[in-house]
Amino acid sequence: MADPQTILLVAPDLDYLEWATKHLAADDLRILRCDHAEKAIKVCDTTRVDLVITDLILQPFDGMTLLSRLRAAHPATLVILTGAFPTTAQVIEATQMGAEDILKKESLTFELRNVVEGALQTLEERRTAHSPEKSKHPADTRVKIIGNSRALQDVFKIVGRVARTDAPVLVSGESGTGKELVANAVHEYSPRSKNTFVAINCGAIPENLLESELFGHEKGAFTGAINRRLGLFEQCDGGTLFLDEIGDMPTAVQVKLLRVLQDGSFTRVGSTEMQKSDVRIVAATNKNLSQEVSLGHFREDLFYRLNVVELHLPPLRSRVEDIPLLAEHFLQLTIKRNGLPPLKLSTEALDHLQSHRWPGNVRELENTIARACALASKDVLLPSDIQFTRTFKDPEAEDKQTLKALQQLQQAAPEGQDLQLWITEKIKQL
Ligand SMILES: Nc1ncnc2c1ncn2[C@@H]1O[C@H](COP(=O)(O)OP(=O)(O)OP(=O)(O)O)[C@@H](O)[C@H]1O
Ligand SMILES: [Mg+2]
Repeated sequence: MADPQTILLVAPDLDYLEWATKHLAADDLRILRCDHAEKAIKVCDTTRVDLVITDLILQPFDGMTLLSRLRAAHPATLVILTGAFPTTAQVIEATQMGAEDILKKESLTFELRNVVEGALQTLEERRTAHSPEKSKHPADTRVKIIGNSRALQDVFKIVGRVARTDAPVLVSGESGTGKELVANAVHEYSPRSKNTFVAINCGAIPENLLESELFGHEKGAFTGAINRRLGLFEQCDGGTLFLDEIGDMPTAVQVKLLRVLQDGSFTRVGSTEMQKSDVRIVAATNKNLSQEVSLGHFREDLFYRLNVVELHLPPLRSRVEDIPLLAEHFLQLTIKRNGLPPLKLSTEALDHLQSHRWPGNVRELENTIARACALASKDVLLPSDIQFTRTFKDPEAEDKQTLKALQQLQQAAPEGQDLQLWITEKIKQL
């Protein structure tokens, strides 16, 4: 029989240790436990431990430090962190430092066994060591992305994994879901964070200006080009360029962007001389980009180049559990910015916020809280202080309408016809 695999449980809470030991008990597992970070290191130094599941809060140092020390001394040992409220910075940093997972304690009851089984299964592949790289930034100077939902925690984990690479990232999601915030986090948690992060809205600038804005121009390249100007690709060398509303980028500019993504080279407008630049691209869109490709509005080759890593931000209505944290965050922010006296959110007001559809997502919530603070007459926000913005469209209803229209087209298509091509043709004829 193969050696049993060894799990070390580390937590200050003895009841939890007792529970987890019973919950995980199996013939092929050896379960050790301790309530002290220093002791945990000693156990790992003297015994082969395959997986450590540790609390974030420990004595005499915390779970993050334990993770970092274990990664250095025992790189083949997997580490899973658990905490009541892991912060964004903790999730991203723990992932960057090579933690196998970081879980909310409340979800452990359902997930612990699955997570452990998954971790042990992939143990052999993961034995290749990661070198620990503690972040140089104090966590509180960086982007604050609030969210405790599973969906957002998964986004943080991907940010943690990709930030260290130079892979292009495509951030998708409805308007106001936090795409720019996440793009910023990818930069701030990357080795490029010492250099520039620049955002440009590709849909808001006319085609000829966008090309010169991105790639620069030579003196006299066009009427009004009185001086040579460096474009964002040159200004951002070593940094990150955020291309917002990439779905609206004109085709001519798409061609030039594809070239830079392929080999980092481009020409300024009005010049044939090749320039080189080392820029990481993060793009964002609230359009369905693969649909734009099939409609012929967006280059397929560019789509694949940009979409190396996709980060999808779900709409707020599908992660209502984030609303209390976000509402509290925006409330404190508004109070601080405007020097208001302390204000609290009543339970009824919170219920009211959680039952809204939020077509404008987090941005709408931010504005709603700011408006409620201005209207509040007491030191507690009541449902009557909350006024939602008039809704112009319901994204889900729109999705349903589109689906219905597509179904009708599908039924109308002649048999044996390539459906996608046929629909594209029909749309062109509109
Ligand atoms: N998870 C979050 N935590 C804290 N603030 C957030 C979060 N998500 C969004 N916000 C805030 O909501 C506002 C909108 O976010 P952002 O501009 O990143 O959205 P977007 O997806 O880029 O929107 P659009 O598609 O309209 O450009 C910003 O003020 C941002 O700081
Ligand atoms: Mg945006």
